[in-house]
Amino acid sequence: IRGEHLFKGNLLHVDMLDNEDEQDFNNMKLKKEDIIVSAYPKSGTTWTEEIVWLINNNGDIEAAKKTPLYMRFPFIEVKQAFSAIRTMPSPRFIKTHLDYPAFSAMYDSNQTDRPKVIYVVRNPKDVAVSFYNFYKMNKNLGSFTGPFSEFLSMFMEGYVVLGDYFKNVLGWYEASIKDDHILLVKYEDLKTSPLEQIKQIAGFLEKDLGDDVLTAICDHVSFANMKANPMVNYEGFPIMDHNISPFMRKGEIGDWKNYFTTEEDAAFMKLYQEKMKDTSLTFAFE
Ligand code: A3P
Repeated sequence: IRGEHLFKGNLLHVDMLDNEDEQDFNNMKLKKEDIIVSAYPKSGTTWTEEIVWLINNNGDIEAAKKTPLYMRFPFIEVKQAFSAIRTMPSPRFIKTHLDYPAFSAMYDSNQTDRPKVIYVVRNPKDVAVSFYNFYKMNKNLGSFTGPFSEFLSMFMEGYVVLGDYFKNVLGWYEASIKDDHILLVKYEDLKTSPLEQIKQIAGFLEKDLGDDVLTAICDHVSFANMKANPMVNYEGFPIMDHNISPFMRKGEIGDWKNYFTTEEDAAFMKLYQEKMKDTSLTFAFE
């Protein structure tokens, strides 16, 4: 990882917030009108951001096609985006991969003044595979050239950008149980019943849009359409080499079966059972 360092306990890279920004970060209180999409990396963040942005903009697909998503929905732990967010008019759309303790430093102590957060989770085996392919195509992550087995060890140790999967997921999951300002969405549900999930998100955002608008959003965010959409597929991003692996790679449930050996799966599931023993959160792995 280029310029790797810890920021509030989260492992970040060269372009991201560091100790010098910590004071400003702690002082930047979030607003009730802010809309947050949070996720561990490779869990369907981009997909959910496009859905959330469109719902909140009444399904204005033409507007979405005019501006890259990373500008409509800045990534708060990137230095440049953090500065931009501080002066953005409401409603501010904010993307984050930070864990709950780090992110909630920006919360007001009064729960009713908190912004709405949509937290997306995806089963960790597919996340590991997606992350591995992302590590290979991303210069800031070192353009990783090792085999999957090597990446999987790093992932299981939590030694990857943004840190440990289980810490991130369980922290946000437990928070979502106690805080009705956090909606948990599962990648697998979004994949198998997108319209239903989009309706649920619209309800959470208190947007009454009508079935035709929601259906149009659903069609716009299909994997094929997002893969072909330069406003969301990170085309032209200098740190990414889509020839090695496109950002919109496969978009499926269960691709882990093409990567994990039987032994790796057994070792992973042992870790999974241990980490998940006290939670009610479950996943579909296929
Ligand atoms: P794969 O690498 O498994 O294809 P994030 O946005 O959090 O980085 O997540 C990226 C992952 O979400 C990639 O997974 C990407 O293909 C997948 N994805 C993005 N848009 C999608 C969509 N519309 N439908 C299904 N998967 C999608």
